Parts: sequence; structure tokens; C-alpha cells
Amino acid sequence: MRLIFIGPPGIGKGTYATAVSERYGIPHISTGDIFREEVKRGSELGRKVKKYLEAGELVPDEIVIEVVRERLKKEDCRKGFILDGYPRTLRQAEELDKMTSIDLVLNFHAPDEVIIERLGGRRICVKCGAIYHVKFMPPKKPGICDKCGGKIIQRKDDTPEVIKHRLEVYRRVFTPIINYYKEKGILLDVYAGEPANIVIPRILKLLEEHGFKPEK
Ligand code: AP5
Repeated sequence: MRLIFIGPPGIGKGTYATAVSERYGIPHISTGDIFREEVKRGSELGRKVKKYLEAGELVPDEIVIEVVRERLKKEDCRKGFILDGYPRTLRQAEELDKMTSIDLVLNFHAPDEVIIERLGGRRICVKCGAIYHVKFMPPKKPGICDKCGGKIIQRKDDTPEVIKHRLEVYRRVFTPIINYYKEKGILLDVYAGEPANIVIPRILKLLEEHGFKPEK
């Protein structure tokens, strides 16, 4: 099962991809997570992408395409994968078609005010990347990750100015991508304006309806 999750920043792609990944036993590949991890490690790639991430700008195509090409070659992608945050440009989509074939693209949507509230309250674990929300998905112990005990922080690009800019970038770049997959007949619109305990079962049901049987 080869899936793409697209939608505006903060709609919940990472949250839903984590749930689908656990249920189907396929990797969740988030280009944003890969870049944040490289920035944290201070690698050459991390140094190259840091300024784009902090400004909420797109990382240049040549860099992103190469990262995804290498990631998809790994053994764990043989059964399938969920791409979260890729492709973001038509060139990235066309290059992806040369690497693999995609079964379904889930296009998440919700009103802007919902997205802004989610981004403003998002917290992540510095160690394992688990996603929390101060109001909607708080950790059991404040500031501590339930999964690994790591420290929970706010992402650097979740400040009001960068959130605004990321939403503008999204609106500018995503219409051609959505049309690209609509024309291929593999795009499904999914309403994500409700709590995660409603949205996640909705996604799992859709996948089953399309013939994908879960592992668990
Ligand atoms: P990336 O990491 O992909 O960020 P994004 O697309 O902006 O998406 P987010 O991670 O912000 O949100 P999400 O939809 O995953 O929401 P989440 O599940 O966390 O990209 C970051 C940067 O990397 C880009 O700006 C760019 O610089 C670069 N980059 C990455 N890929 C690139 C590419 N292909 N090309 C070029 N550059 C690239 O949920 C948000 C919050 O809401 C959480 O707190 C969560 O707990 C909560 N929540 C989720 N769902 C619900 C719900 N249903 N109800 C209530 N709360 C919910």
C-alpha cells in the first residue's frame, strides 16, 4: 500500500500517518521529520536545509527528491509506505512517478481556524518526534513524552509569523499537486476538521473500502 498524505500544515498528517503506519506495518516517511532530525544532528544536509525550515520556505527540489529517492530504496518500503509532506511541487510529483507507483493520495482539509489552533498548541518530543497538543492530545505528565520519556518542546516553525507564511506557501503550491493526482483518479478528499478519534477511524475505513486489509 503506497500512500501520500497531503494537506495544509497542522491539519494532522503526521498524527494520522502514525496511526495508519502502526495499523498496516508500513513506514511513515515525513520529509519534514527527516530534515528536522538532520538539523538536530548538525549534518551537512541539516546545515543546508535549516534556513528553509526556520522560515517556512520550501527546501529546493534537488535536495528533497534525492532524500526521498534514497529513503524509498530501503528494505522497509517493500510492503509500502506513507509519504507525508512529499510531493510539494509538480517536479517532486513527476520524479516520484519515476521512482515508484502510488495507490492513493489522501487530501486532508479543514477550516483555517481549526488548523491555526492545532499548530499553535502543537508540541513534539525532541527524542522520538511523537506529536502532542496542549489541549487536544496532552501528554500524561506535562512536558514529558508518554512514549520515550523525552522532553516535549514547541517546533521552531510553529510561531504565529512562520505559521502564517507556511499557510501562504501551501496555498500557492498545492493546487497543481491536487489537480495532478485528481487527473490520475487516485485522489480522495478527507474531512479532518473533527477530533483525531473521529478522523483516524474515517481514514482506516476508507482504506479498507479501497481493498487494503490491515495487519493488526
Ligand atoms: P512538515 O514537517 O511536512 O510540516 P507541514 O506540512 O507544515 O505539516 P506539519 O508537520 O506542520 O503538520 P501535520 O499536518 O503533520 O500536523 P500534525 O499531525 O503535527 O514540513 C516542515 C518544513 O520542511 C516545510 O516548511 C519545508 O521547509 C520543509 N519540507 C518538508 N517537506 C518538503 C518538501 N517535500 N519540499 C520542500 N520542502 C519541504 O498535527 C498538528 C497538531 O494538531 C498536533 O498538535 C496534533 O496533536 C493536533 N491534531 C492533529 N489532528 C488533530 C485532530 N483531528 N483534532 C485535534 N487535534 C489534532
